[in-house]
Formats: sequence, C-alpha cells, structure tokens
Amino acid sequence: RRLGRSKEVMRQVINKAKRRSQMAVQSLEPEHPPTEKPAALAPIRIAFPEGDDERIIRAASRIVEEGIGEPVLFGNSREIQAKAKQLGVNLQPMELLDPETHPLREDLAQRFFTMRARKGVTLAEARRHMLRRHYYAPMLLLQGEMDAVVCGETYHYPDSIRPALQILPLDKGIRHASGLYMLLFKNQLIFCADTTVNITPDAETLAEIALSAADTARRFDIEPRIALLSFSNFGSVKHALVDLVQEAVEMVHRRRPDLVIDGEMQADTATNEAILHSTYPFSRLKEGANVLIFPDLTSGNIAYKLLVELGGAEAIGPILMGLSKPYHVLQRDASVDAIVNIAAIAAVQAQEMELQTRSA
Ligand code: ACO
Repeated sequence: RRLGRSKEVMRQVINKAKRRSQMAVQSLEPEHPPTEKPAALAPIRIAFPEGDDERIIRAASRIVEEGIGEPVLFGNSREIQAKAKQLGVNLQPMELLDPETHPLREDLAQRFFTMRARKGVTLAEARRHMLRRHYYAPMLLLQGEMDAVVCGETYHYPDSIRPALQILPLDKGIRHASGLYMLLFKNQLIFCADTTVNITPDAETLAEIALSAADTARRFDIEPRIALLSFSNFGSVKHALVDLVQEAVEMVHRRRPDLVIDGEMQADTATNEAILHSTYPFSRLKEGANVLIFPDLTSGNIAYKLLVELGGAEAIGPILMGLSKPYHVLQRDASVDAIVNIAAIAAVQAQEMELQTRSA
C-alpha cells in the first residue's frame, strides 16, 4: 500500500508533538527553571492497555525515538519484558503498569463504583472491572494519571470503546462520540465521519458528528466545507431519511452559522464543483466538500473502506471525536505506522487541552 501523503501529513503532526515535548524537557533543565517558563508542557503519558502486544511494543519504541511522548505499557511486566527482548526493543525509557499490582486500584474501584452504582454496578463488580486493562486505562485518564489512551489493537471495536463511553465525560455541548477517518488522495484530503461509532444516528447525532468533524478539520489547519450526504439532492426525493439529513443541516446552521455546510446531497454533487455550480448554484457550498458526513454507519464504514481498497486513498484514523480526553480506538490489527500516527494525534490533542486549561 502507498504511504506517501499520509506520511507527510503525519510528519507535521509528529513534529508538533515533538516540538512541544522538547519544550517540556528544556523546562526541566537547570538553566530554565519551570518558574521562568510557565507555558512549558510536561511530557505526554500515553497509555497502551494492550502493552504486551508485539506491534504496540514496536510502536512504543518508535514513539520514544520520535519524541512524541512517554508510552506506558499495560500488562504483566515479565511477559512484556520477554517480548521486548525478543524484538530487541529497549524498555528503559518506558513505564510498565499492571493493574493487578497498581497502588491506585482500590481507589479507582471505589470511584468507578460511585460513578456506576446507579447503573447496576456493585462494588465487587467495580473491583473486577479495575482488573481489566480497558477499564483501568480510561479510569487513570479520568484521574489525570495518564494524558491519552490508545487501544483496540487486539479487541473488537465495540469492546474497546464501551468502557470509555461509560467513564469519560463528553466535550461541552456534545452528547454523542463519533469516529472519523482522514483520507488522502493524490491532490485531496477528505475527512469522513461517522465511520466507526453511531449505527443509526438521528438528526441531532448527525449534527453533532458534523460539528465534531469540523473541529477536527480545523485542528489539522483545514477550513471545513461540509456536505451531509444522502441518496437525494436538495429535496429531489421525498423520504423520512432525507428529512432527517435536512433537519441535521439546519441544526448545525443554527448552532454554528460560521460553518460552511449544506445538504442533503449526493456524493458526486458534494465532491464535484461542476455539478454544484451548474445545477445547484444556490448551495452554500461553492467548492467541493472536504468534510463528508454519512447518513449512517453502514454507508460511512463501507465507503471509507472502499475508497482505501479500490480508490487508492491512504487512511489516517480512526480518530475518536467528542470525548473530553484523548482516547482513541485503533482498527483491530492496526499496523505499527497506524499506531504511531494515532499516538501522535492523541499527544497533540493532550497538549492542546493542557494549553487551553492554562489559558482559561
Ligand atoms: N456517544 C457517547 N456515549 C455513548 C454513545 C455515543 N455515541 N453510544 C453509547 N454511549 C453510552 C451510553 O449512553 C451508555 O452510557 P451509560 O452506561 O453511562 O448509560 C454506554 O455508552 C453504553 O451504552 P449502550 O447503549 O449499552 O451502548 P452499546 O454498548 O450497546 O453500544 C457502541 C455502544 C459500542 C458504540 C455501539 O453503538 C456499537 O457497537 N457501534 C458500532 C461500533 C462498530 O462496530 N464500528 C465499526 C467497526 S470500527 C472500524 O471499522 C475501524
């Protein structure tokens, strides 16, 4: 598979993470005491619940080499050490963490019980959950002990995302988390959502997916032009599924009049400027869309995979949107490159959140 353009885009993200973590290291040096550099950031701690997986260990080694952050590998330390030895990976700069022996386990079990007691969770169950790495990692993230979590390498997507949805608060004004892929073509970068989470979104959820995707595009310094996709063009078909998309467009328009968004429209209308100009000159989209919002998960997930397999696109993602902390779920069996990419995105997100907190 070609990995040209995605490497360029990710190089920029990695350099951003690196620059900021160098600032953090400098601030710890004696000639720059922290008091003189209040804006300096601490190194980002990235938790990997599947820390005993070979690809995760290799990716962690690259994350250290690149200066993206500090990986924390979850699992049995002897097993991780044995695997690292086989792979020739130096674990020295990394932390190994086993929930079974971690000093915060009982405190976190009590906190989880308090959060979930009215959702049918008993204290005994809370304690059992805290032995599970996919629950322990988001609890440590919530507690501020970790700055980001990257998981899902060896689990089914729903099983990796569910603990985060139960534990982590959502972004302000957002009630649904959603997933996005960046697709890179020869001369184009397209953001596609929701490709991973909401199976049958209602109008409000679709609107939130569009808002989160717009914010994600801006985080990559891209000004979003958003199309909500359908099998219909601006009312050409009368159907409840079309009404739902139109309703979502209006909701976004009311909430964020600054955004360029329109729909419902078919995929070729959204991406072909000639069709937009000749047939739909009234559209708020004057150029082809660079953010495509799919009407449901079936179409979104199938479309992005086809674009990668048959359309020659390179994919970066999935990027989980809407959670108030950087928590990302990989596609199962993700490559080492894909893991490093998501870790770099998570590190930059954690740094930005820290900077926002400081300036608030
Ligand atoms: N945003 C925020 N919270 C949510 C969301 C959401 N989109 N969906 C569910 N939740 C919350 C619920 O409110 C609930 O919280 P609570 O327990 O505090 O009340 C909790 O998550 C669990 O909710 P359930 O209704 O039990 O949700 P369920 O676990 O059935 O489903 C899930 C959630 C896992 C996201 C489901 O919608 C799903 O399986 N989606 C598809 C995932 C998938 O298979 N993706 C495609 C493959 S990924 C790929 O190709 C890379």
